[in-house]
Amino acid sequence: MTESFDADWLLLREPADHAARPDALLATLRTALGGARGAGPLEVTDLGSGTGSNLRYLAPRLPGAQHWRLVDHDAGLLEAAAAPGAGVEIERRVGDLAADPVAALSGREALVTGAALLDLVSEDWLASLLAASVGQGATVLFALSFDGRIRWSDPHPLDAELEDAINRHQRSDKGFGPALGPAAAVACAAQLEALGYRVESCASDWRIDAEQAALGTALIDGWVRAASEVAPDRSAALQAWGEARAGSLARGAVELVVGHRDVLGWP
Ligand SMILES: C[S@@+](CC[C@H](N)C(=O)[O-])C[C@H]1O[C@@H](n2cnc3c(N)ncnc32)[C@H](O)[C@@H]1O
Repeated sequence: MTESFDADWLLLREPADHAARPDALLATLRTALGGARGAGPLEVTDLGSGTGSNLRYLAPRLPGAQHWRLVDHDAGLLEAAAAPGAGVEIERRVGDLAADPVAALSGREALVTGAALLDLVSEDWLASLLAASVGQGATVLFALSFDGRIRWSDPHPLDAELEDAINRHQRSDKGFGPALGPAAAVACAAQLEALGYRVESCASDWRIDAEQAALGTALIDGWVRAASEVAPDRSAALQAWGEARAGSLARGAVELVVGHRDVLGWP
């Protein structure tokens, strides 16, 4: 089963995504890319780029001219992407990443990147992609992989059940084989190290309070749907949990942390 993502959902999550990204990785990223710089623009491929959120975050934080190749199977999402400023050109490639991760690469990348993608892919898919990326000496940055943590400032008796169901759902096939789900960032770091790369990994948690109630409500609705797929007999209880949690979040009675990790690897 392939995954489709709504443009409105990607728009809703973008401020939380950008706020979560760790500054600590940027300095290392710039240094790694500085060493790899050739005469032309910096060649970047963004896998599962959607409408270009990763481009909008990273391009202004990287120096010099850049050529971004955006790859996604959803032509409508790609169409919404635009170059975020002078000196940044974009190329859109519509293609199914699951079919062949290596075919998505041009072979010229200084940086292979992706955001909110790795939890969808399988261990084997990741191994093929990383072997190819490392083989050409590219720096690798995978941002915002969900790490399995859904933490509330004030507990509810069903929180653990919901978290467990979500993490089981995360591991189901999203079109790439059995998904890494919450193990994605750890697997990525381990594979890069095994390939001889240096690795830095940082938390990039979402912090959601009443100010992001719309994001929180959409997230909770999605969790209740996903959890009910893996535990259909618990659907009514999960629905009640979702209503209680969305209400508390909107009232400012509770805050939510959703665990994510960014992983950077370089030669
Ligand atoms: C969670 S979204 C993240 C989008 C974007 N990177 C962002 O941060 O907003 C995952 C993206 O992966 C794309 N995707 C999922 N499966 C894919 C596949 N088999 N081939 C290509 N793209 C895929 C989706 O279309 C979607 O744009």
